[in-house]
Amino acid sequence: MVKDTLEIGGKSLISLTEKYGTPLYVYDVEKIRDNARAFVHTFKKQGIDFQVAYASKAFSSIAMLQVAKQEELSLDVVSEGELYTAIQAGFPAEKIHLHGNNKSISELEMAIEHEVGCIVIDNFHEIDLLSAILKEKNKKVNALIRITPGIEAHTHEYILTGQEDSKFGFDLLSNQAEQAVNTILNQENIHLLGVHSHIGSQIFETTGFEMTVKSLYNALSRWKEQYDFDAEVINLGGGFGIKYTEDDQPLPLSNYVTALVKSVKQCAIEHNLSVPEIWIEPGRSIVGDAGVTVYEIGAIKDIPGVRKYVSVDGGMTDNIRPALYQAEYDAVVLNKLEKRNEETVAIAGKCCETGDMLIWDLEVPKIESGDYLAVFSTGAYGYSMASNYNRFPKAAVVFVENGEDNLVIKREEIQDLTRFDLSYE
Ligand code: LLP
Repeated sequence: MVKDTLEIGGKSLISLTEKYGTPLYVYDVEKIRDNARAFVHTFKKQGIDFQVAYASKAFSSIAMLQVAKQEELSLDVVSEGELYTAIQAGFPAEKIHLHGNNKSISELEMAIEHEVGCIVIDNFHEIDLLSAILKEKNKKVNALIRITPGIEAHTHEYILTGQEDSKFGFDLLSNQAEQAVNTILNQENIHLLGVHSHIGSQIFETTGFEMTVKSLYNALSRWKEQYDFDAEVINLGGGFGIKYTEDDQPLPLSNYVTALVKSVKQCAIEHNLSVPEIWIEPGRSIVGDAGVTVYEIGAIKDIPGVRKYVSVDGGMTDNIRPALYQAEYDAVVLNKLEKRNEETVAIAGKCCETGDMLIWDLEVPKIESGDYLAVFSTGAYGYSMASNYNRFPKAAVVFVENGEDNLVIKREEIQDLTRFDLSYE
């Protein structure tokens, strides 16, 4: 996307806004493809077997998963709903990986019936459920074991947590992971492909991943001796950081891949183990900077000497990240791009909630009701975390590519909001 002209895929954002209304999520499909290809092409150049599984929690819709399929990505799903969307999108089941820290029987059954490529086993309860279902259905499945390696990465920091305090996966530093590997290896219907670990989100350095690879290899080397277990796959999760504001300095996506491959190869050689397939699960870094949300500005409340609140026709219902994580975004007034910035304002949502703010300090030209605001990098965890709080209908999603715009998720209508309500009269 070219920010100065504010065209996406050859279409002006203002014309899209006029056509589809606001709030509106607009995706630059070519950017999604570029991001996917940055991962895929770098792996190919490294001459290693790999899978890039798009973490569909970042943004799941039939159109999005069709693009993921076209780009030869695999898919990470974490629920029946995400799996169902993938199946509806015609995504090949053998490239789908099922995650989740509390997979239900019906989720596991659905995954097994569709013969998904892999189930990432998270806990002992799941081993029991999965084995029982597989026996009953007389099926087999490939699995990874999710490990919490005692490393947590956040943006520029990585923390060695010792014993990991997390609801996900098996703890590496106690003997839980070991016990789980032993248990899984004894299940005839589960083929343990290897290990999985996801250390965090919006990570800007490779150090945390390198530490994780080392820590996983110490375990893999022990398991080779104890159980003669050779990992065919090592999955290092997602979490590759993107640019939301000028303060964010992400690495090129290819740097993560080269660092991971190098580190896995080195560790495999050091421990005298064969080099496995490397899998990753990027979500945000595939769709985040490909999406923009456009709003119309309504009420403006100026508290002299304090703050000017500028309200938009959306907010935490289409982007809960600022309220939930104090996430920061950059934005421009679409119809005043050529004007000089003159004031600093706070962009507020329209929910009945003090915390419903999108941006606290935004420099803008003289702003007026009826202006359009475009907020950048809203492609990940925007629509996917949207809600109907205050009974606001969910916004529409448009994909643009090669000068063509396509509505890919319809705007909810007010009637949709009472669709599941039953009368009590
Ligand atoms: N793999 C696993 C096992 C994960 O738990 C996640 C994210 C990903 C991959 C993808 O991570 P990504 O590449 O998108 O950072 N709602 C939050 C992010 C929560 C992420 C949860 N897991 C946000 O809006 O920042």
